[in-house]
Amino acid sequence: MKAMAEQTPSAREWIPSNPTLPKLAAAVQRCHGCDLYRHATQAVFGEGPANAPVFMVGEQPGDQEDRQGHPFVGPAGRILDKALAEVGVDRSLVYVTNAVKHFKFEERGKRRIHARPRTAEISACRPWLEAELEIVRPKLIVCLGATAAQSLMGSSFRVTRDRGKLFETRWSGRLLATIHPSALLRMPERDRAAREYELFLADLSVIPRELAS
Ligand code: URA
Ligand code: SF4
Repeated sequence: MKAMAEQTPSAREWIPSNPTLPKLAAAVQRCHGCDLYRHATQAVFGEGPANAPVFMVGEQPGDQEDRQGHPFVGPAGRILDKALAEVGVDRSLVYVTNAVKHFKFEERGKRRIHARPRTAEISACRPWLEAELEIVRPKLIVCLGATAAQSLMGSSFRVTRDRGKLFETRWSGRLLATIHPSALLRMPERDRAAREYELFLADLSVIPRELAS
């Protein structure tokens, strides 16, 4: 029988020693820290400057990200880029990554539908996120949605209750959480989506204020 520790999925043994962002980005392609590598096209690592003051964490790559190999290049990324431009955040100041590096999905005919990562998968993948944070050491971490917030703040964190507020972390003076931009895409009612987009902008407007402080 295997020991318990061996059965807990973790990326830890795939993390290179003395990592740099390029070393991590290469090594993540070999990660078998949980089962999600089995069906995804490739791992999608974070991108952006190693000295970025803002570090944004999404949930996991989506269909487009999985195919192209870059974070936030699909529909959710387009909303994010638009929102950042509207609140006046220069995209070159932002490192973007995800809590989970492989796309988890269910197949419906030819379509691949996003599936939520389990707590065990989020924990398994956290060493990659922590390694990125150790290098970037941002001024401000921005969690987009509950998965990112859970990964860094634990399961008692509630985005609905705690969004827009600032928290201290091991890696940065400040952490801010808001909803995931994909949530806006899933809202069928236009008025509600417009209101939620305004609230999303209000949360993101904390970023330029923090950068100026
Ligand atoms: N949603 C995410 O959380 N991350 C991406 O990279 C794309 C969509
Ligand atoms: Fe490794 Fe994360 Fe991919 Fe799981 S999701 S195999 S832990 S990189």
